[in-house]
Amino acid sequence: MKCAVIGLGVIGKVHCEIIQAQADLVAVCDIDESKFDLYPDTLHYTDYKKMLKEVRPDVVHICTPHYLHTSMTVFALGENINVFCEKPLCIDKNDISKILDAEKRSKAILGVSMQNRYNASNLFVKEYLKDKKIKGAMGYMAWNRDINYYNSGAWRGKWATEGGGVLINQALHTFDLMQWFTSYPQSITAKISNISLLGKIEVEDTVSVVADCGDYKFNFFATNSNSTNLPVQITVSTDQGNITVMDENVLVNGELKVLSNSDRFYGKHCYGSGHEFIIKDFYDCIKTGRKFALDGAEASKVIKMILATYSSNGEAVKI
Ligand SMILES: NC(=O)c1ccc[n+]([C@@H]2O[C@H](COP(=O)([O-])OP(=O)(O)OC[C@H]3O[C@@H](n4cnc5c(N)ncnc54)[C@H](O)[C@@H]3O)[C@@H](O)[C@H]2O)c1
Repeated sequence: MKCAVIGLGVIGKVHCEIIQAQADLVAVCDIDESKFDLYPDTLHYTDYKKMLKEVRPDVVHICTPHYLHTSMTVFALGENINVFCEKPLCIDKNDISKILDAEKRSKAILGVSMQNRYNASNLFVKEYLKDKKIKGAMGYMAWNRDINYYNSGAWRGKWATEGGGVLINQALHTFDLMQWFTSYPQSITAKISNISLLGKIEVEDTVSVVADCGDYKFNFFATNSNSTNLPVQITVSTDQGNITVMDENVLVNGELKVLSNSDRFYGKHCYGSGHEFIIKDFYDCIKTGRKFALDGAEASKVIKMILATYSSNGEAVKI
């Protein structure tokens, strides 16, 4: 498996490390040539199109800022090169159909890096809820992303390039898990606000959502204005009691289970251990022809929820 990576920033380095443990990292691309120093044994490119045409890798990992995901994904799929793209799939409603069309036309496949679905604790909750009647759910994420974080990349904190703030970036995984554990909402009523960084970033740092799933609702709250990064928590209420997942911990019927698939965390602890497993699964799907679950259609579900949240302003928005 010959792999290439576009974007060698915070998460691109994590992808490179995992690729080097599982496959062959043959080429890397970044517009900042100083990033190549870490990869002396691979080919280096500043133009991703040139890299894809010349190297023709089996898989390209897209680890660039949000606003570049659509154009890079569509181009690579057009070249029939398998794409493993970091979240979010895209930041604009029209881009969803562009990506799904490109996916349909391509001989290659697309996978999106929503690795928290691979955490052992989350897989346990998904399985546990299979035969339960869900009555409601609550999820929250309270992390700290201060102005130094937003200043660490010109694309961060802007609608045009990040596509939003805490929800589309940090809380996307937990928001996705909420619909994956329960069901897909019919409508969303939400408020977004900028509490701590008003005048410093354009996008929201705090979001509060009620998602209407028909028989029940789920609530979701996320903020980047907490002083520390707390464990993310989701509780689902069922006809047989509550189940709570908090990182690797699952509390069900008074029993605490600690479920982890690895003690190895690539990158920050808050990314979880899922990157290693989702990449392995994606490569396996390419090798065997098995369908990869987190394709464009699946990854677009949370994007539609996020875009509904951003347009709500306190009114119910149909998804
Ligand atoms: N799945 C996760 O848990 C997780 C965690 C962190 C980041 N991410 C995602 O990864 C992506 C990148 O985030 P990051 O924090 O690594 O950002 P970053 O700013 O640290 O890195 C982005 C890199 O892309 C490069 N780049 C920009 N434009 C380019 C172009 N046209 N061609 C080639 N390279 C280009 C930049 O020079 C930089 O090195 C984002 O989509 C982010 O949401 C996902």
